[in-house]
This record gives sequence, C-alpha cells and structure tokens, in this order.
Amino acid sequence: MSISRRKIALIGGGNIGGTMAHLCAMKKLGDVVLFDVIDGLPQGKALDLLQSAPVEGFDASIVGTTSYEDIVGADVCIITAGIARKPGMSRDDLLGTNAKIMSQVSENIKKYAPDAFVIVITNPLDAMVTLCQRVTGFPKNQVVGQSGILDSSRYRTFIAQELNRSVDSVSAMVLGGHGDDMVPVRSTCQVGGVPVERLIASERLDEIEQRVRMAGGEIVALLKTGSAFYAPASAAVRMAEAYLLDKKEVLPCAALLEGEYGVQGYYFCVPVLIGAGGVEQVIEIDLSAGEKAQFDESLSHVEEIVGAMDRVLGQA
Ligand code: APR
Repeated sequence: MSISRRKIALIGGGNIGGTMAHLCAMKKLGDVVLFDVIDGLPQGKALDLLQSAPVEGFDASIVGTTSYEDIVGADVCIITAGIARKPGMSRDDLLGTNAKIMSQVSENIKKYAPDAFVIVITNPLDAMVTLCQRVTGFPKNQVVGQSGILDSSRYRTFIAQELNRSVDSVSAMVLGGHGDDMVPVRSTCQVGGVPVERLIASERLDEIEQRVRMAGGEIVALLKTGSAFYAPASAAVRMAEAYLLDKKEVLPCAALLEGEYGVQGYYFCVPVLIGAGGVEQVIEIDLSAGEKAQFDESLSHVEEIVGAMDRVLGQA
C-alpha cells in the first residue's frame, strides 16, 4: 500500500497564490499546483520554488499550469483569481470584474475537482464565496471564505504592539463581513487571559479597532500597485492545514449561515470548526448588545453587495 501526498490547487498565481505555494511547500502540506491564465507566470514561480526544495528540505511536487486538467484529484482548492485593489478602491469596486472570473473558475473546479475543499480569498469576499458555492453547487461545508483569520490577526497584531506583548498572548476575533464595517469583537479580546478592556482605555481601543477595519486599505495605499498578500496567504493556508490535518480547529471564517446568529442564507464570518469534514460546525458565541448592532450593520452591507452581484450577473 502506498500513501500519496495530498494535493493543493491554487487558482490564481499572483501575489497571494505564489506566497501560498511557498507556505504549503515549507509546511510540507502536500503537492502544489499553481494555476493562472497568464502563461509563464505559474510555471516560472513553480520552477523557482522547486529550486528552493534542496535548501529547505521539502520533496513536494510544485507544478505551474494554465490547464485545469492539472487540478484533477485536488484535496483543496484555494481561489485568488481576480484583480486586486488599487489606491482609492474599496473591495466592492472589484465586484464586476471578479464576479465573471469567479463564475468561470467555479465551473472549472466543479468539473475538475468536485471533491475539493474550496477556500475563497478573492474580493469582495462575501459575494465571491457566495457565488462560488452557488456555481459549484457544493454543500456548504465544502466552500468557505477566508476573511476572519486575517482580520483577527491584524487585531491581535495591533493589540500586541500596543502592549508590547507577544502576539501569542493575544487572542481576539473579528467577525461579520470582510468590509470596512467588519466587527472586531472586543469581548473576545484577551491578553494572557485578561480582558483587553482592563488593559487599554476604551477610546484607544476604538482607534485600534478602526485601524483593523481599514488595515487592508492602509497596505493598498502604501503598495500602490496591489494589496496585502503575506498575511492573507498565511490565513488561507492555516485553513487548508486545519482541513488536511483534521485539526478540528475553531477559526473565524466566512461560512454559509442558515439560521445561526439569526442570519439566513448569507455567507458571514463567524467562528467555525474546521476538520476533515470541511466546515464541520458553526460555533455560536455571545455578543454584547453593541457588538450585535455592529454585526447587523455589517450584515446589511453583505446583503447589499450580494444584491449588487446578482444585478451584475443578471440574476436579480
Ligand atoms: N483564472 C485564473 N487566474 C486568474 C483569472 C482567471 N480567470 N483571472 C485573473 N487571474 C489571475 C491573475 O492573472 C493574477 O495572477 O489572478 C491573479 C491575481 O493575482 P494578483 O493580481 O497578484 O492579486 P493578489 O494580491 O494575489 O489578490 C488576489 O485576493 O485578497 C484578494 O483583493 C484580492 O481579489 C484579490 C485576490
């Protein structure tokens, strides 16, 4: 009996796709297929990565391709295909272009990798993951959006900086939509088990949380030619790892809610359990009245963007 490596297909070989390929190889998660529509880009990145293997000590196969046939048998597909933000753009400005790309990519995943656990990163995330699930027709446990691990990581980073503590000592979750009205859930934020409100004044926390909401835009303004990619790549690979290793890890991710948190039929970021069954469970946590109000506000924005997507695609 032979045990083969797991297969991870990265759809989109740009900044996030390339960084994820590197992370998957370094973490020895499995063989990597890097797909893009620009001939030469994924092949060149794959070859470069492969040549780091003897130095880093990984044996995975890393293939760059423009052919969907190469994703056959993938255990995980992570989608970044699309365009990224430029300064002055919101995630929502990407809707028209990325909806068409997401439809096409999802059709191909349905055809070539029907058993894969699908993680969507392309923005506007809440609409794109909705579209992917609709087009593939995959069950809701099989299609998930990366948003909350990144947003929560940004929250934890800023709190750790503020207090000069290790990021390992800071726990926190950011939930809701992956837009400017995402919800940093202050009641989940603790530093070494101490509620953050006992350590940082409320007004200062307001400022830090606002920086979290705008953190993606802060990076876009600095880079000028693209958006964040190291942290988004880390976040998505963490989700893939939880699935491939059946970790049963509780992670904030965009999952299709059907009644949980009072949300019906929308992808929304909440804590979920990820293991070999994909999104195995939605975890319901208590929110303060203020947090609940922010949650509802964020949901109304997700409803709007999904409605706008339906109009763009002529489905409304
Ligand atoms: N199929 C596959 N890949 C595609 C397609 C398609 N139909 N259309 C575009 N691409 C590829 C591009 O050729 C490009 O290489 O998607 C890649 C996107 O890479 P970048 O432009 O570097 O963007 P990146 O930073 O990786 O972000 C990708 O994730 O976080 C979101 O907002 C971000 O929507 C953006 C996405």
